[in-house]
Amino acid sequence: MNPLEDVRLRGGIAVLDFGGQYAHLICRRIRALGVYSALLPFDTRLSELERAGVAGVVLSGGPESVYSPAAPKPDPAVLKGGVPVLGICYGYQLLVEAHGGDVIRADRREYGRSEVDILSAGGIFDGLGKERIACWMSHTDSATRVPPTLQVLARSDNSPYAAVRSDDGRHFGVQFHPEVSHTEGGDVVLSNFAIGVCGAKKGWSIEGFLKDSLEELSRLDGRVLCAVSGGVDSSVTAAILQKAVGRRLECVFVDTGLLRAGEADEVRKFLSGGMGVKVSFVDASARFLSALKGEADPEQKRKIVGKAFADVFEEFAKKEGPFRYLAQGTLYPDVIESGRSSAPASVIKTHHNVGGLPAGLSMEVVEPLKELYKDEVRAMGSLLGLPRSVLWRHPFPGPGLAVRVLGEVTPSKLTACREGSRIVEEVLREEGLYEKVWQAFAYVGDDTVTGVLGDSRRTGMQLTIKVVESVDAMTADWARLPADVIQKMSGRVTNEVEGVVSVAYSVSSKPPATIEPQ
Ligand code: XMP
Repeated sequence: MNPLEDVRLRGGIAVLDFGGQYAHLICRRIRALGVYSALLPFDTRLSELERAGVAGVVLSGGPESVYSPAAPKPDPAVLKGGVPVLGICYGYQLLVEAHGGDVIRADRREYGRSEVDILSAGGIFDGLGKERIACWMSHTDSATRVPPTLQVLARSDNSPYAAVRSDDGRHFGVQFHPEVSHTEGGDVVLSNFAIGVCGAKKGWSIEGFLKDSLEELSRLDGRVLCAVSGGVDSSVTAAILQKAVGRRLECVFVDTGLLRAGEADEVRKFLSGGMGVKVSFVDASARFLSALKGEADPEQKRKIVGKAFADVFEEFAKKEGPFRYLAQGTLYPDVIESGRSSAPASVIKTHHNVGGLPAGLSMEVVEPLKELYKDEVRAMGSLLGLPRSVLWRHPFPGPGLAVRVLGEVTPSKLTACREGSRIVEEVLREEGLYEKVWQAFAYVGDDTVTGVLGDSRRTGMQLTIKVVESVDAMTADWARLPADVIQKMSGRVTNEVEGVVSVAYSVSSKPPATIEPQ
């Protein structure tokens, strides 16, 4: 649906997407306040926003510089009209520029945590209860002069104008990111803007979203094929569709040969057993592995897996069909990081479930979760009665172990990766830490190291254990596990996994690394 025709947007907040990695997160945080918010193209016209009845507009961050010829700009009327506007980072700089201020490339970049002093309490800083807050900054350009029509509300060492307000109290700008969980009181700032300044109406909830989605999905007038992997996203997708279309839903589980240990059994247990969903099992492992043979490039591997998936679905659909729809558990971050959103975001990785589908697919794609973040999906799954063990299962990438085996995918590297990950998960469960971390797994590459077994030397694989903490997978930090837990994992891996002689523990955060090694 065109978000501008979405009645929920009446009285809600439109976020104009200038391509920042956190643009969707702004919507997510505003919705967590109970106010509906949707992400719209950066050049959406004021007349359309007014017609949709939005209460306010947020201009997101973005990778461009406002002074660059290629810079995406909003409809100038947005910054002249009566609708309240909050600019964040790049959006803030657009606002300063539109008011006649200067934005230039700064001598010192400001990335990560910064202390911000609040110079004027009240307004968007109402109820913070602090004069200094820790904020998340991420900018290379800075406002160096703001015109007298903008009042300065806050400052940091590197940003003398860290927050501004226009004379008429309709425009606000913040250089920092209130939507990021590392910003203290960020939700207070967003709430003050959305509810306080804009008077946006409260009423959005995951319960309401589920009800609306069920209504919408029940209008699907044909058979639906849903690919399930055992992960939380596809399980919630299958559950909501079963509720909406009942027996017209059919699921297919494809064994790609790139799965975690025991995955097919778990799907059997809870989807076909527990929930009574009709699931067919297809063993396509030989096909996937042969398609991947000789390929070492990560993007190519993703594309190969995506294509093989699409081919298997097509064949299955031909044999068992006709199916009118193909359902996928695509989430918001998958859409953003694949560069499929409406803005000029850079492609970070092609996520297979959005990047690999061929243009001429014979089924219409249905993505009931594409507006949601992982925590919202878990909340919805819980409303649908999915068991905790499924809801709190660690995320697993669509291309599976193909992106955890660096270089060419070979059977011995796959086994090491799969068995290593099984041990890492088992140890975390034994230690009561599994649900405390976001993701935990092992990966291997082509590096070999020299080891010693008994009295003889032997060369073997180097395996890396990665355990990360995260709230939404947009940023992540390595988990500070107790040394004896890491020792337990390492000892078991070298004793139990054939061919591995050395274990490393990853101590990189995202950014600069991503969660998956490829
Ligand atoms: P990255 O590696 O981009 O991962 O930091 C962020 C989150 O997304 C998962 N991920 C994927 N999920 N298809 C998916 O469905 C994919 O191609 C894919 N790649 C990464 C990853 O496991 C992490 O939770």
